[in-house]
Amino acid sequence: MANVRVGFIGCGGIANGKHFPGMAQQEGVDMCAFCDLILERAEKAAKEYGTPDAKVYTDYHELLADPTIDAVHVLTPNVAHCEITVAALEAGKHVLCEKPMAATPADAKKMLEARDRTGKMLTIGYQYRHFPENQVAKKVVDSGVLGDVYYAEATYLRRRGVPTWGVFTDKAKQGGGPLIDIGTHALDLTLFLMNNYDVDYVCGTSFEKLGHTLDAKHQGQVNYRGEFDTWNNETYDVEDSAVGFIKMKNGATIVLRAAWAINMAEDYAANGEAYTMLAGTEGGLDTKEGRVRLNHVVAEYPTISWVGNKVSGFIPGFSQGPAPKSKEAEIWVKALKGEGELFVTADQAYVVTRILDAIYESNRTGKPVYFD
Ligand SMILES: NC(=O)c1ccc[n+]([C@@H]2O[C@H](COP(=O)([O-])OP(=O)(O)OC[C@H]3O[C@@H](n4cnc5c(N)ncnc54)[C@H](O)[C@@H]3O)[C@@H](O)[C@H]2O)c1
Repeated sequence: MANVRVGFIGCGGIANGKHFPGMAQQEGVDMCAFCDLILERAEKAAKEYGTPDAKVYTDYHELLADPTIDAVHVLTPNVAHCEITVAALEAGKHVLCEKPMAATPADAKKMLEARDRTGKMLTIGYQYRHFPENQVAKKVVDSGVLGDVYYAEATYLRRRGVPTWGVFTDKAKQGGGPLIDIGTHALDLTLFLMNNYDVDYVCGTSFEKLGHTLDAKHQGQVNYRGEFDTWNNETYDVEDSAVGFIKMKNGATIVLRAAWAINMAEDYAANGEAYTMLAGTEGGLDTKEGRVRLNHVVAEYPTISWVGNKVSGFIPGFSQGPAPKSKEAEIWVKALKGEGELFVTADQAYVVTRILDAIYESNRTGKPVYFD
């Protein structure tokens, strides 16, 4: 079977941190085209990861015009996801687009429609689902030991952790701040574990408290991951934290919390990662410390236990733990070769985008947003 030929649009942080190393580990893949507005980034990527004849571009239309390319990864800031993904699907390419699917539900819908029109595959880069503790949590939920899961908390909090590379604090390019950037992971993970995408209504608040005001000398302090720098108060124009209340049609309820800057210490417990807490009629679990903690009843005794002991050790983050990024690439490449199914569907990611947008809208209007 011929190798699958893959192109990459956007050669910045996530491209280098996840997509290039993840795809380089797969058999039967030609990483043959790299595009970035900044030519040197595309050239560097082609040199490090590309086939000997890999091409570089600054205009993604030219990359898409190459009929030998089977699939592309869309790795640009959020507002460009829709335009590039739709163009790629129309050009006959399968697409792995980074999270969030799009900056707005209207854009995400256009992407779904383009997928359906073209019959090409579309998936979204929610790698948290592949973290070992989350895979184990999924098995626990599906085994039924929690009973009916009726309440969940989806959390990704950084006490101080504003991304200072790229355009993350620019609303026009990203569509929002921590809610759309990292809250999206926690929400995707929780909906996936609950296997419930049927939303009744959403309320929420987003705060703009610290992004504009926090003194530079306090910005980088006590940041667990230690990989973020001080940010610019003047150009910061997104929220710094947000909370959502999501009521599902079956009555189940999710509280979503996301922050890049908040005076709460919870990122320590979660090792700076997304986690979830589920409560069911028979038991509950959380994935707070990179492992699955179950609370249940054993012989009438309320019991807290670790499922499978400590699952695969502590997973510090996608940039350090090879498993999630290569797992995402592995599943994707199998699907491209016609040997497997997509794991993250665009329909699921669309619901995530709708919920996040509804939280922003509820904050603006002070009202709940009802889904149809
Ligand atoms: N899955 C994750 O955990 C995760 C982590 C970080 C970022 N992301 C997502 O990845 C995307 C990119 O984030 P990043 O951290 O890599 O940002 P980045 O700024 O480091 O990289 C983006 C790159 O895209 C290029 N670019 C912008 N517009 C372009 C266009 N029209 N054509 C070609 N290149 C273009 C930029 O020059 C830049 O090099 C965002 O959507 C972000 O939400 C996902």
